[in-house]
Amino acid sequence: MTPTKIAAPGRFITFEGIDGAGKSTHLAATVARLRARGLEVVETREPGGTALAERLRGLLLHEAMSLQTELLLMFAARQDHLDHLIRPALARGAWVVCDRFTDSTYAYQGAGRQMGAEVVARLEALVHPDLQPDQTFYFDLPPALAAARRAQARAADRFEAEDLAFFERVRGGYLQRAQADPRRFVIIDAAAPIEVVATAVATGLLP
Ligand code: TMP
Repeated sequence: MTPTKIAAPGRFITFEGIDGAGKSTHLAATVARLRARGLEVVETREPGGTALAERLRGLLLHEAMSLQTELLLMFAARQDHLDHLIRPALARGAWVVCDRFTDSTYAYQGAGRQMGAEVVARLEALVHPDLQPDQTFYFDLPPALAAARRAQARAADRFEAEDLAFFERVRGGYLQRAQADPRRFVIIDAAAPIEVVATAVATGLLP
């Protein structure tokens, strides 16, 4: 009997943090590092990553809406992203590197918007009961420092325009998630010099 060949399963890596924590540069470097290992890497983001989810992203970042609509649209975008990009990529053995995933919903909608973790967990159980990131880099930064960085960077969207108290709650939400699952999370001190952060991410990355 010929042995069945099982494709190497892909890995799912996410980057998280409050706006202005500086995760994008390090995400790009991580993608380059994995490609240098000869791996197929899919670089993507949330909300977004597919044509439909990118349209939902435009609404989420710029249109006024109720908190519940915002929460449901985040998961609607995620469902499409999982169906059409993330799951197929993982199934063929690719590594998926995603800028934000459901930890963002726990932090922003659950903690920041004060909707609570329970409603987020219910939608998570509906949309991806079977899938969690293999590794999550959480870029931790005091909100005042992040706000100063953002002010230099770009015009604020609906989330970035929130006040410091909102981002304090978001940070608290992230830290709670990270502390509850230390095996999955790598906590990065995003206030450190960029080279120090780069080394921490490179060292922490799954083999
Ligand atoms: P980005 O500019 O880092 O891509 O993030 C888009 C914004 O969307 C960011 O402010 C965080 C927010 N967001 C949520 O509030 N909930 C979520 O589930 C996700 C994925 C993003």
